[in-house]
Amino acid sequence: MDKNHTITILGTGYVGLTTAALLAHSGYRVYAVEPNQTRLDVIKQGKSFFYEKGLDPVIAAALEKGSLIPTDSYEVSVPASSIVFSCVGTPDNPDGSSNLTYVFSAAEEAGRLMAPDTIYVQKSTVPVGTGARIEESFAKLGKAISYVSNPEFLREGTALQDTLFFDRIVVGGNDHHATGQVLELYRALEASRTAIAAIAGVDSAPQKGEYITTSLSSAELIKVTANAFLALKISFANSIAKLADTVGADVVEVMNGVGADERIGRAFLHAGRGYGGGCFPKDVSGLIASGLDHGVDLTIMTAAQAVNDSMPGYIIEKLQRQLGDTLTDKHVAILGLAFKAGTSDVRRSPGIALANMLTRAGAIVTAYDPQAREEAADTLTAGVTQHDSIDAAITGADAVIVATEWPEFIEYPAAQYAATMQGTLVVDAINRLDSSDIQAAGLTYIGVGR
Ligand code: UGA
Repeated sequence: MDKNHTITILGTGYVGLTTAALLAHSGYRVYAVEPNQTRLDVIKQGKSFFYEKGLDPVIAAALEKGSLIPTDSYEVSVPASSIVFSCVGTPDNPDGSSNLTYVFSAAEEAGRLMAPDTIYVQKSTVPVGTGARIEESFAKLGKAISYVSNPEFLREGTALQDTLFFDRIVVGGNDHHATGQVLELYRALEASRTAIAAIAGVDSAPQKGEYITTSLSSAELIKVTANAFLALKISFANSIAKLADTVGADVVEVMNGVGADERIGRAFLHAGRGYGGGCFPKDVSGLIASGLDHGVDLTIMTAAQAVNDSMPGYIIEKLQRQLGDTLTDKHVAILGLAFKAGTSDVRRSPGIALANMLTRAGAIVTAYDPQAREEAADTLTAGVTQHDSIDAAITGADAVIVATEWPEFIEYPAAQYAATMQGTLVVDAINRLDSSDIQAAGLTYIGVGR
């Protein structure tokens, strides 16, 4: 296959590996570059090193076809490609801003190796203005490399479905030929998506399928603004949940009625333990930091962040009041350590925050998550004991907190809580359980804003 149909993807996290595996089924030869040998070995066996529904069969089939080539080498992959995607990690700095070390080092190393006229596509989430800096560094190389911002909107847990049946593809850049070339990749993906969905075993989804071309800085800002707005909606719902608690309203009913207004919409108004993950917390603090850098006051986002940070403590206070004002030696079981259902990712997970806060407050904490056990082990404080099932985690517990919406937690029969726990408190930190079922089993239901 010629260079015009060869793509390199730098970084094989959620975004990079999903993009690589899908484009490898859309008529392209794709190098997936991963410097970490342990991770690379897993990918070479046709698997991902994190849990994402449907991804493993897509990787395995692409390896078998020979269209996906996992490698640790920039030298092998980058010079042979007409388009290079940067999907490297952007970990948090201690001040909450994004650490761009990998973004810049990947661009520098690829810049050295890219053939003239290569297109460099940024998929990693970066603060507005980053693209202009990288573009400048490419210009100094004198190779006519075009820089395109192509932000990613997939969600963990539904990564394949989101990418195959997308609402929008955004590309921003100064070179219109280059932005057009990147859109072509997505058109090819769109043409192959039914076959890919069948390999992955994911359902088709309704989609708007808009293609949007913008300036470079607009594309960068679209990404963080979209995440910040969703985070804002969640914090707004959580603020109203606190009011609902004091006035005896049910925030689920309130948001259902509010979201029925099409101008508002029901999505992301689900109150509970707050948002976590590798994106919202970092993108909110990153946007605040960008505002500060440019002298723009984004108090609205500072407030959203403060509300989110308050939610685990707020839930623990509600529990503590029911437990007789002390947590010391009380056995609390946490169900759900991933930052949401459908993933093993525990970055900024509310379930972990709850477990660690309770341990610090003197409680005896047990926990269970169907996918995140290994990833949670490093982040949980020493006192938390992980178990392999709901039953094992809640045996003898005074209270249980359901912190993610894994179906097995929602479907778990209320009578079984009653039979297995020692106490009677069920804290629904995701507002998804049936409160009447729980009460009918003789238990006390504690929701967030209910
Ligand atoms: C988010 C965005 O939804 C994606 O569009 C984006 O591409 C991605 O970040 C990214 O920047 O990479 P993700 O972090 O995977 O995706 O997860 P979400 O499903 O958006 O959930 C984020 C957090 O918000 C979770 O902890 C979830 O439980 C919480 N949430 C979500 C609520 O508390 N309430 C809601 O109503 C919705």
